[in-house]
Amino acid sequence: MCGIVGYIGLSDAQPILLSGLEKLEYRGYDSAGIAVHNGKKIDIVKSKGRLYELKKKLSSNNLKGNLGIGHTRWATHGIPSDVNSHPHTSNNCKIAVVHNGIIENYLELKKNLSQSIFSSDTDTEVIAHLINKYYVPGKIENLIDAILKVLTKINGSYALAIICEDFPDKLIGVRKDNPLVIGLGENENFIASDITAIVNYTRDVYFLDDEQIALLDSKNVTVFDKNKNVVKKDVFKVDWNVESTQKGGYDFYMLKEIFEQPKIINDFISLNLSDNNFLDKINLSNKQIKKFNRIYIVGCGTAYHAGLIGARLMERLPNVFVRAHMASEFRYSNQIIDEKTLLIAISQSGETADTLAALRIAKKNNARVLSIVNVVGSSIARESDNVIYIAAGPEIAVASTKAFSAQLMAFYVLVCNLYRSLEIISEQQFLQMQEKLRELPSLVNQILSCENEIKDKAQKYLSCKNVFYIGRSLDYFIALEGSLKLKEIAYLYSQAYAAGELKHGPIALIDDTILVIGILTQENIIEKTLSNLKECKSRSGKIFTVTSQIDNKVKNISDDVFVIPKTHEIFEPLLANIVLQLFAYYIANGLGYDIDKPRNLAKSVTVE
Ligand code: AGP
Repeated sequence: MCGIVGYIGLSDAQPILLSGLEKLEYRGYDSAGIAVHNGKKIDIVKSKGRLYELKKKLSSNNLKGNLGIGHTRWATHGIPSDVNSHPHTSNNCKIAVVHNGIIENYLELKKNLSQSIFSSDTDTEVIAHLINKYYVPGKIENLIDAILKVLTKINGSYALAIICEDFPDKLIGVRKDNPLVIGLGENENFIASDITAIVNYTRDVYFLDDEQIALLDSKNVTVFDKNKNVVKKDVFKVDWNVESTQKGGYDFYMLKEIFEQPKIINDFISLNLSDNNFLDKINLSNKQIKKFNRIYIVGCGTAYHAGLIGARLMERLPNVFVRAHMASEFRYSNQIIDEKTLLIAISQSGETADTLAALRIAKKNNARVLSIVNVVGSSIARESDNVIYIAAGPEIAVASTKAFSAQLMAFYVLVCNLYRSLEIISEQQFLQMQEKLRELPSLVNQILSCENEIKDKAQKYLSCKNVFYIGRSLDYFIALEGSLKLKEIAYLYSQAYAAGELKHGPIALIDDTILVIGILTQENIIEKTLSNLKECKSRSGKIFTVTSQIDNKVKNISDDVFVIPKTHEIFEPLLANIVLQLFAYYIANGLGYDIDKPRNLAKSVTVE
């Protein structure tokens, strides 16, 4: 997610803005910029790339002034570039804005403005133009009124910092769904997306609530609600150490990112679920998808596991062969690849060498490439014909959690639209599936609220040195993902097996030292997996069952059961995986490992 910092006071703004942005680098970003009011007008310097690129530009063009705003951008709309970097301004440069969040209806809003005034591809720029449109030059109240009017027009999530050429001593902050703190200093005040950016200057803060707007000058801070009523705010005294604030109070980024999943899933739904042009935008309309007689889905690690689920769901498409491949193996297989081939490349980082290599082979053989990526403008995204961005925000922990759930969401929305488009499901079934997807954020929250229950189970099995994860079909793919998490962060030998395969050899390994985790969500195969668990139980294996179907049969063979909420069965694997994420996390935490930076691993494997 993006980083915001704002300053109004007696000091020079530039160094304070830059030091604030440095503290926000941990959030992940691809460009940065600042705007400073020099007493007469607003000067802006911004740059694609790391902060040192911005500093390089500033070294020959230091901005002078006591009022300013700064931003580190994590691209969601528009590739990382100088022009797409924040701050964004109105075309008369009267208004400058930095933004964290997503304006879902920015395209509609742009349509009602002259296209010639736009210089970037971002959603944010529309805010600056709209404020300028409604602002009647004069008193500061006019600017507040203009901003409040704009807030009635935009849908989505936002934390904003705004300055205006007419008010060299006024800084404005606005918040809805994305955090914004107001720092209270001596003859100076601050705005920031999180405390980290300003804790070196003040530990007294206000936390803005949704739909509140703050007006700051060097001596005063006034907070209003959306009806311009002044709101009394309690001062919060920050006693956190800076390091912990970067993780939002969580011990590790991995746990923070696990808990971000309801929001990530909700954001993906907001951006894509009601978009009737979803298939057209990725050139997979009814007519276009019929051009393909084979679909290969490639990825590595967690991305590959998401691909296995996507492939199983896409197997229902008529007259098309669908297969998921580990990207590192794809290139050594003798697959037929031609203009009738669609390759779907999945990658959180968009830089994984094996996946990029597989994509290039497909392109060389005239295949069409659709990628499902998190990092906007990454190599895989840039080399694809079409991209579905998962908008999961920076995933800092090496072990992928929220990106996996967002990749599944991309497949869920893709297949629901394809099923409807190809009349595999009726319009009513499509609407029912959409409703079930809209329920997912709250169902994930239900599971997250049972964190301590899962933590207790992890502590109970802390001494297990060997773990089997078993399941069938979609449950098997979740078993693979759950097993990878335990390997990655707890360094435990664990393996995932198709439940039906156990009796063909691996069951010889089962004894009282082995924990067997059974994933049971797919209605038509639960009985079969239950009998496999029974076979393990009869060989003294310890049984932990994760299921949406609780009955005596499950209870009788399980030493532990975690019941996930019921929903459409193709969505239940996503819920089961949340349990396995927390289980692996608390095993690793119990073993005292550095969960965010596991030994031997890198976040993005850009070498083959
Ligand atoms: C997942 O927890 C691992 N960090 C790893 O398997 C990862 O999924 C894999 O390297 C692929 O990365 P990508 O999604 O960035 O391409």
